[in-house]
Amino acid sequence: MEVISTIVQLVGGAVLTTLALAVSLYYTKPAYIIYFFQRLNTWRAGCTIKYVKVGEQQFAYLERGRRSKNQPSLLLIHGFGDIKESFCEMIMHLPKNLHLISIDLPGHGDTSIKAKANLSIEAIAANLHQFVGVIGLDRGPLHVLGHSMGSGLAGCYAALYPGEVSLLTMTGPTGIKPAVKSLVFEKIDQGNKYLLVPETVEQAEEMFNICLYNKSLIPPKQLLKGYVDYYMRPHVSFFKELFDAILEQEDVLTPLLGKITAPTQVIWGRHEQVLHISCVDVIKKEMTAPLQVDIIEDCGHTVPLETPQKAASLILNFRDKFAKKQNKS
Ligand SMILES: *[C@@H]1O[C@H](CO)[C@@H](O)[C@H](O)[C@H]1NC(C)=O
Ligand SMILES: *[C@@H]1O[C@H](CO)[C@@H](O)[C@H](O)[C@H]1NC(C)=O
Repeated sequence: MEVISTIVQLVGGAVLTTLALAVSLYYTKPAYIIYFFQRLNTWRAGCTIKYVKVGEQQFAYLERGRRSKNQPSLLLIHGFGDIKESFCEMIMHLPKNLHLISIDLPGHGDTSIKAKANLSIEAIAANLHQFVGVIGLDRGPLHVLGHSMGSGLAGCYAALYPGEVSLLTMTGPTGIKPAVKSLVFEKIDQGNKYLLVPETVEQAEEMFNICLYNKSLIPPKQLLKGYVDYYMRPHVSFFKELFDAILEQEDVLTPLLGKITAPTQVIWGRHEQVLHISCVDVIKKEMTAPLQVDIIEDCGHTVPLETPQKAASLILNFRDKFAKKQNKS
């Protein structure tokens, strides 16, 4: 009995120590908590972290499942200032047998970028094309999906390499100049240019407030601090440079839309405040490929994080519909 009570005491002591450590980390080094949740989400999503060299450049990505001739692999491209793990919530709602890869874009997460790299969307798409070739994703059917800047890149990729893309999903793509200015672009005009590159907790709060429709998803202040320390601060100068490049290429995707041949799904949050929903009219006008438009109610800019389950079910619905059509023809 004594042995048991000693063990119980030891285990109890270990649990208390862990808890105390977690609480103290939360207050002293919230970036570690962010890092921990990121790893936990990767694990919950069943993904493995991988690295590959493309010439001198290192690419980091998450992978789940294996390439199959019968169903397109899914390549996930995150948004500006984001990382590969931002798709984990959505991946949890996708079937386990679907082969998928989520990359860190050049200069984001653990993917490197050359100093003074060309930040045009075409040049980044060409860089992604090298990555796709190195890991062999071009050897089977491929479904490219992007969010925000990643979505603009996905559209550009599908226009530049039409033979390689069998399906395309764009959630709120950049690179289309809408008829109506969004809140973010109004603020940029008023001189608040880098509001998507927050350097303080207050600025991060403002950014999440703009990007999310459901305000209860805005992280508590202490985690916002971790977010700023971990995601933003190490990359601030690159993010600003990249944001300038995005602004310069405000309408880069519009003339490319007509070159896309893959069946395309466009997803937009009804309450999007970064990229105005009137971009959908431009897409409908310019695109000639088969098009499915899905608007998600009660959702803002950050579709994969805000409504992961809904987004996953819309993506599966689109894949079902067009995979069947492609099999018939
Ligand atoms: C960047 O890349 C684009 C597209 O490949 C090209 O048109 C442009 O000239 C390049 N810019 C520089 C400065 O090399
Ligand atoms: C907002 O998010 C919370 C937390 O995930 C959720 O419980 C709630 O249902 C969401 N509200 C709406 C309107 O979607």
